[in-house]
Amino acid sequence: MILEIILTTVNPDGSIHLAPMGLTLTEPNAASESMPAGASLAPFAPSRSLDNLIRRGTAVVNICDDVRIFAGCLTGRRDWPTINLSNHNGEARVAAALSYQVVKAAAFGTNSERPRFSCTVVESQQLKAFGGFCRAQSAVIEAAILVSRFNRTPARELTREFEQLAIRVQKTAGAAEFEAWGWLQEAFEKALNK
Ligand SMILES: Cc1cc2nc3c(=O)[nH]c(=O)nc-3n(C[C@H](O)[C@H](O)[C@H](O)COP(=O)(O)O)c2cc1C
Repeated sequence: MILEIILTTVNPDGSIHLAPMGLTLTEPNAASESMPAGASLAPFAPSRSLDNLIRRGTAVVNICDDVRIFAGCLTGRRDWPTINLSNHNGEARVAAALSYQVVKAAAFGTNSERPRFSCTVVESQQLKAFGGFCRAQSAVIEAAILVSRFNRTPARELTREFEQLAIRVQKTAGAAEFEAWGWLQEAFEKALNK
């Protein structure tokens, strides 16, 4: 299973970098040499998250239900409040996270375009209850992924998917999801008209 999370890493100047990222959870009975059991991250090269993971070998996995953070990171709005984790050498969590895990991340495998890091949990905190499923939230996450892959997918396919997702947003969104959707739609239209 892959969870969509917000990864916080520490930049060389000590500031905090936020990026949406997939966290692969592998069950013990599905273990293989190429994918050990547990959790792993796979940041594409080049990226700030990858550089920070290589340099420090640590990160924070944030479980967030505010989809504006996902859409915001993809549309130039990365400045979301974070809280310093005093026992973890400059690491910080997303202030709005439902839960977080401080992880040690060790690179494995041979894929240099998309290296994989196995994650060992150092500290884990549950902060707020999960509020339940919302289809508009998953639509926003899907749309954010489409925006992040804009250059790798044909425009007609992207437009069709975006229109389908818009229906789900119209039917089920609250204020936060509408706001996130607006940012993504703007970015999508700008990229289409380039
Ligand atoms: C829901 C979601 C999941 C993503 N998962 C990944 C991922 O697993 N690996 C990756 O490299 N980028 C992923 N991205 C794209 C990155 O968040 C985006 O490219 C980001 O800018 C990473 O680069 P940076 O660390 O330089 O900011 C994802 C984006 C979204 C919206």
